[in-house]
Amino acid sequence: MVAPASPAGPAEGEDLRLPEPPAVPLPRALQVLRVSQRQIQFMFRWRRELGEVFRTRGTIPGGPVVTGHPDHVRSIFTASPDLAPSLTGESPLLPIVGPNSVLTANGPRHLRQRKLLLPPFHGEAIARYAQMIADVTEREIDEWPVGKAFALAPRMQAITLDVIMSGVIGVEGRPRRGTPEHGFRMAVNYLAKASTLPIAKLAELTNLGHDEPVGLTRRGVAILDRHTYRVIAARRKAADLDERTDILSLIMRARTEEGEPLTDRELRDELLTLVLAGFETTANSLAWAWERLVRTPEAYDRLRDAVRSDDDAAAHVEATIVEAMRSRPVIPAVGRRVTVPWRLGDYTIPAGTPVIMSILLVHHREDLYPDPFAFRPERFLDRKPGTYEWIPFGGGTRRCLGAALAMAEQRVVLEAMVRRLDLEADDPAPEHAQHRNVTMIPARGARVVVRSRR
Ligand code: HEM
Repeated sequence: MVAPASPAGPAEGEDLRLPEPPAVPLPRALQVLRVSQRQIQFMFRWRRELGEVFRTRGTIPGGPVVTGHPDHVRSIFTASPDLAPSLTGESPLLPIVGPNSVLTANGPRHLRQRKLLLPPFHGEAIARYAQMIADVTEREIDEWPVGKAFALAPRMQAITLDVIMSGVIGVEGRPRRGTPEHGFRMAVNYLAKASTLPIAKLAELTNLGHDEPVGLTRRGVAILDRHTYRVIAARRKAADLDERTDILSLIMRARTEEGEPLTDRELRDELLTLVLAGFETTANSLAWAWERLVRTPEAYDRLRDAVRSDDDAAAHVEATIVEAMRSRPVIPAVGRRVTVPWRLGDYTIPAGTPVIMSILLVHHREDLYPDPFAFRPERFLDRKPGTYEWIPFGGGTRRCLGAALAMAEQRVVLEAMVRRLDLEADDPAPEHAQHRNVTMIPARGARVVVRSRR
């Protein structure tokens, strides 16, 4: 399937005479509210009414322009980073992880950090984790009640937090009480739980635009910092630092081009970035996969048959994850700010405009995915998703660093759950999407009932 071509890229000549895109005719405050509460409805309504490209007003300065066309996405993802730097430098994580981590930095600093962090996130390095992920999953599954409804998201979070602790810090299994790693795990868990409280929404808004945390977030971050620096100090003294393969030890041994090691503050920023960017996203992606599966019996039955009879199980698991991430992308949009005028189809936007690539809109195009609101893993059984048509991990030089790890985790956890459990929805009505920070999560945490366990 292909979308009709739509020219896009840095604008010159005739392009500069094209009009600017139409604007959403609502006051700014109302747009902020709608996007933070009902992003799906907002995006689909205004694409229907205004067309492929439209301008919004919200918390990002400069009137972000939204697009959901794969040609526009390609033009931005393949552009040189100085023509379209990432908007994650304006992310809600900024006050927590600071302006210099791989997520929030732009320019040479970003490239340097990314180069440093890429090797341990490579597919081959990740393959080493499969057994560890399987062990963590089995242990978790054994604890779930049978016949009683519970939310899967926090359970998935327990698994993904263990995985990230193991990969990033090198802790095998649950850390022992009293160790710096134990304190760190507790603090991350605490912050994650606190971020689900209604007051967190307020804290999120108060922190917008700040490099350092303020208010409640400041207190939470102070606790987290205390434990993070303890982990760093202990690791600096570790006798086996040179042999360790975890990411913290790796970046501790790394040197910049000037031969300098990373400072404690830099290590702390990267550590928190990886943990915060990595565990809730993956957990909620799995939660969405289950939210969809238990409400789509044909898809669930087919997957269960394939996995339990070992008949093309890997392909069915993969297709299910890809389809779940298509229909419920945990991060529903990614952004860049163009530094030169840019053509997007029938329009040109001025230099300095933020461009929001709506992952939701791209993933629900009828021309790419017929019947786009249906959950149909078989779409991906014998075709790989297109680079600019399936973008849950973003793209280009800012593509998610943890994509291989997130896919590996989802494969192992989903397959183990399908093999061992029979799950049902606790309520046939689909769960709404709830927006938290930059993520979109199932509003009731993907509640299920285990009917039987094998
Ligand atoms: C299903 C799970 C995940 C999803 C949906 C996801 C999605 C994303 C998205 C959309 C971006 C922005 C990409 C862009 O702007 O083009 C991103 C960036 C990033 N993600 Fe993930 N992510 C996931 C898991 C992880 C994991 C497990 C880790 C690490 C342990 C991780 C670390 C990062 C980092 C460091 C960045 C910033 C990369 C950069 O700016 O160069 N993510 N992720």
